[in-house]
Amino acid sequence: MCGVIGYIGTNATPEFFYNGLKRLEYRGYDSAGIAMMNSDGVFIQRAEGKLNNLQKKLSKLPENTKIGIGHTRWATHGKPTENNAHPHRSENIILLHNGIIENYKPLKTFLIKKGYEFQSETDTEVAAHLLNYEYKQLSQEKNNFERMKKAIFSLVSQIHGAFAFGIMCTDVSDTLYVVKYGSPVVLGLGKNENYMASGITALVEHTRSIIIMEDKEIAFLKSDKIILTDFSGNEIERKPIQISWSTAMLDKNGYDHYMLKEIHEQPQAVAQTINGRLDLELGKINIDNYGISNINLKEIDRIQIIACGTSFYAGSLARYFIEKFTKIPVEVELASESRYRTSTVNSRTLSIAVSQSGETIDTLQAIKFSKENGAQTLAIVNVPGSTIAHNCHDESLIYAGPEVGVASTKAFSAQVSSLIILGLALAQEQKKLSSEKITECIDELVKVPSLLEKTLTLSSYIEKISKKFYKASSILFIGRGQQWFVAMEGALKLKELSYIHAEGYAAGELKHGPIALIDENLWVVCLAPKDSYYEKTISNIEEIRARGGKILSVGTEGDEDLKSISDEFIGVVECSEIILPFLTAVPMHLLSYWIAVKKGTDVDQPRNLAKSVTVE
Ligand code: F6R
Repeated sequence: MCGVIGYIGTNATPEFFYNGLKRLEYRGYDSAGIAMMNSDGVFIQRAEGKLNNLQKKLSKLPENTKIGIGHTRWATHGKPTENNAHPHRSENIILLHNGIIENYKPLKTFLIKKGYEFQSETDTEVAAHLLNYEYKQLSQEKNNFERMKKAIFSLVSQIHGAFAFGIMCTDVSDTLYVVKYGSPVVLGLGKNENYMASGITALVEHTRSIIIMEDKEIAFLKSDKIILTDFSGNEIERKPIQISWSTAMLDKNGYDHYMLKEIHEQPQAVAQTINGRLDLELGKINIDNYGISNINLKEIDRIQIIACGTSFYAGSLARYFIEKFTKIPVEVELASESRYRTSTVNSRTLSIAVSQSGETIDTLQAIKFSKENGAQTLAIVNVPGSTIAHNCHDESLIYAGPEVGVASTKAFSAQVSSLIILGLALAQEQKKLSSEKITECIDELVKVPSLLEKTLTLSSYIEKISKKFYKASSILFIGRGQQWFVAMEGALKLKELSYIHAEGYAAGELKHGPIALIDENLWVVCLAPKDSYYEKTISNIEEIRARGGKILSVGTEGDEDLKSISDEFIGVVECSEIILPFLTAVPMHLLSYWIAVKKGTDVDQPRNLAKSVTVE
């Protein structure tokens, strides 16, 4: 989950590394470090805490060098202290790491016996010392580039886990070594300079020409070329891809937080997801533009959606629509659980990995597991060239644009719209819906961006009422049908941003236990727009009222009945059931945002979290 950046070329300044790390800070933000190397030696600066602490030390680094590496950490082994921050040095080796070395303990014991002294509690320092040890064993090799190469091959044959390494060696100052297994790394191509990073966001201001590294690969970066090999040393040819993200997309554009900006980008995100995929004139789905070319939708008789967190809620919500359109059974599974169950998929199963980052390790392992067991696999991701997409038969991008805030918002709406389109595509291919019905759904979907725009005007009202909630110690969220998963999404956002305990519950389940929690101190956020579950949800709200609970309802504008039984009311415009969850999700995102702002928590980088979760 850490962020890594590396450079080789003509001129890298401390600011270059710092700014790159700033772009990657969402991946981990508990400590950071930079190492730069020139003919005067190696200069390393590290700092505990947020990147700003490292910024204060940039003046201690050389003004420019031809090679360097930087790291922002999300701690796995060892507390987030300066000593545990990367890069780590073992004599001539300077190394940083994203991932986990699972067998670090026996290796550490071995290295201690060999006389190595450890300065940190990290698994990474083991890799630095082991590489140094292997390098020393190869003293008969006079070509230092080859010697390092062989030492790295030896290192990777001994370690287990996940690792993306950026490595410098003082004896080979014209090469930056990059190793990938399990953790993401992209390489950027420049003019007389080349780059490595954990994600394209760190590189877009320098180059749009990107090589995505695959597992079990080593890249040797020189200023004028990149040599790519597998772990056996066989050279690999890989054409770079051109990415369209721009730096403007990565700025806050005047908003106080990325999260608020991204909430407000939801109309645009959905518009980009549906763009080109809905044929308004013919009233059909353009399956080719959706990204399906290898999977035969006609053969599918079962669907499995695999995801984590917010992506899991997007999948769970979309399930209602997919089943309705296709009559195909859909299971939505938490990726971290799915891969440890007995697989029951087969070649007629469509397994869909839904992931904003495209890097979440649980989702990656689960989709690989389904693929190995014969399922047709589809990646619905936001980040182009991601590892999950690479491991699936087909890739469908949601085109939501970069999401920087750690809490996912615009990706949620884009994922839901993408999955609804997929449901319609399946129904179209399997002739489960008439073309009139498909046209009707398309006509509704195209309204989503403008209705989202309208819903976003609720922001100042929600800001106003948020002061009633920010001191709460617990809040319950309830809903039925699709709104159950909007409730789950609301509860997740609240806990991760404001550290207030929250639970999302199916409204009908309240009476089976959680209703015991209700008293006059508990706020319950009730999602009750006018959909087919409305009457039943209203009954559940009455049950809460009867027990003294305080009600914040999210319903349809002008619903005076609902308003009269609520302590607070947020209204979204009257619309069809297909549009409703998009609109009711907006108050969930805004409510958690404004509560967090009132509480004064770090909205874009909540404690203990990271945007891209690449550890299990
Ligand atoms: C919550 C949130 C997380 C992610 C989850 C999956 O706001 O952002 O729950 O949704 O970590 O991430 P992706 O979609 O990148 O696989």
